[in-house]
Amino acid sequence: MDRKQETIDLLKKYNQEHILKLFEKLDEEKQNKLIEQIQRLNLDQITELYNDTKKTIEFKESKIEPLKYLDKAKLTDEQKNTFDKLGEETIKSGKYAVVTMAGGQGTRLGHTGPKGTFKLDVYGKGKYLFEILTENLKEANKKYGVTIPWYIMTSKENNEETVKFLKKHHYFGYNPKYVTIFTQGELPLLDDQGQLLMGKDFKIKEASDGNGGTYSSLRKSGCLANMKEKGIEWVFIGGVDNVLLKMADVTLLGMAISKNVQIASKSIVKANPYEKVGVFGKMNGHPKVIEYSELPEKMAKEVDDNGELKYGEAHIMCNLYTIDAIEKISNKSLKYHVAYKKNSYIDDNGKEVIPEEPNSYKFESFIFDAFEFFDDIAILRGKREDDFAPVKNSEGVDSPKTAKELYEKYWNRQYNKNK
Ligand code: UTP
Repeated sequence: MDRKQETIDLLKKYNQEHILKLFEKLDEEKQNKLIEQIQRLNLDQITELYNDTKKTIEFKESKIEPLKYLDKAKLTDEQKNTFDKLGEETIKSGKYAVVTMAGGQGTRLGHTGPKGTFKLDVYGKGKYLFEILTENLKEANKKYGVTIPWYIMTSKENNEETVKFLKKHHYFGYNPKYVTIFTQGELPLLDDQGQLLMGKDFKIKEASDGNGGTYSSLRKSGCLANMKEKGIEWVFIGGVDNVLLKMADVTLLGMAISKNVQIASKSIVKANPYEKVGVFGKMNGHPKVIEYSELPEKMAKEVDDNGELKYGEAHIMCNLYTIDAIEKISNKSLKYHVAYKKNSYIDDNGKEVIPEEPNSYKFESFIFDAFEFFDDIAILRGKREDDFAPVKNSEGVDSPKTAKELYEKYWNRQYNKNK
C-alpha cells in the first residue's frame, strides 16, 4: 500500500477524518509533509492520553507523610562549613553542570517570544531573564575558578529564536564553548472531542511535552553522554523564570553529597495553606511533590508540634541530581498531566480560529514526578526572599512587578552587606 493510502487509513482508524478534508485540498509537497508527520505520531498513545482526560485521579490520603528537610538558616557553623566545602570541591574540580529548562510556552505571561527573552524592568535599564541567569552562573564561575558547562533546553517552537537571541547578545559574556542548546520533545494538541488541531502551516499542531521531558531529551540529544565524557558527577536543573534562582548553591550540593543521596532540592516555606504551589511529601515511601490541587484542605492546614505546616515545603524548580540519577530517569516513562489551554487552529475550510476560551488539551510530564523513582531526597529549606521570584503571570502574583521588587530588594541587601 502506498504511504498516502496508509495515512488516510490511519486517520480513519483513529477518528481523525477532519484532517482528510483539508488534506485533499493541499498541494503534493504539503501533503507529503503532513504524511510524514502523521506517520511519525504515536496515535495509540495520543488516543490513550485523550481517554485519560476523562478519568479522575485517585488520591489516597492515608499513604502520604511529611518529608524531612534541613533549614539552611538553622544549620550549625560546622554543618554549613562541611557542606560548603564538599560542594565547592565538586564545582572546582569541574564535576558540576547546569541545565536550564526554557522550553515552556509561557502562555500566562503573554510575552511574544521565548520567556528567557523577556526583559524585566530592573534598575532602569532592565535585564533579560537569560541575562539574569547568566550573571548568576558567571558569579559562581568567578568564585570557584571554573566555567560550568551550561545546557539550555528549548522547544521546537522556540529553539530558533532562542539561539538567535543568545548569539545576538553574545551569550551575555558566557563562553559559548560551554553552552549547549538542545531541544525537547513534543506531543500534539487535541480539541475536546479528541481531534488533532491543525495549524496555519497545514501541519498538526504540536507543543512541548512538559518539563519532565528534560531527562529523556538530555539523553536523546547526546547531552548526557557529553556530560559523562566531561566527568560531570552532579547536574543542577532549574527553570528559566525565577530571577533569584541560585544555580550553584554549594550548601545544597554539599548536603546532597554528605547525605549520599541521588537527588536533592531546595524548598521554601509555603506562604499559607492556600498558596498555589506543590509541596514535598512522601507517598508510599517515595518522595513526591504533591500539587496544590491534589492536597486535601485538611492536610494543607495540618501543623506540627512547632506550629509549622506539615506539608509546607514548596517545590521551586531548584533540583539537583547525580549523573546516574539522570541516566536512570531518562530511561523511564513519566506520566502525563493534562492542561486545558487556548490554542489557535484552522477549521476544515482552512480558516484560522483564535479562541477566546480554552479549547484544547495539552499533555505535559512534570520534572518532579521523577522523584518517585528514588527512596530518598535531601531537601534544603532556603528563603523566599533570597531564592524565589518567579515571572509567571502578566500581572498580580508572580508577575514582572513582584519579581522586580524581590530582585531589587535582594540585590540592595547584598550591596549593603558588602559595604
Ligand atoms: P511552567 O510550568 O511555569 O510553564 O514552566 P511555562 O510554559 O513557562 O508557562 P505557562 O504555564 O504556559 O504560562 C516551568 C519551567 O519549565 C519549563 C519552562 O520554560 C519553565 O522554566 N518548561 C515547561 C519546559 O522547559 N518545557 C515544557 O514543556 C514546559
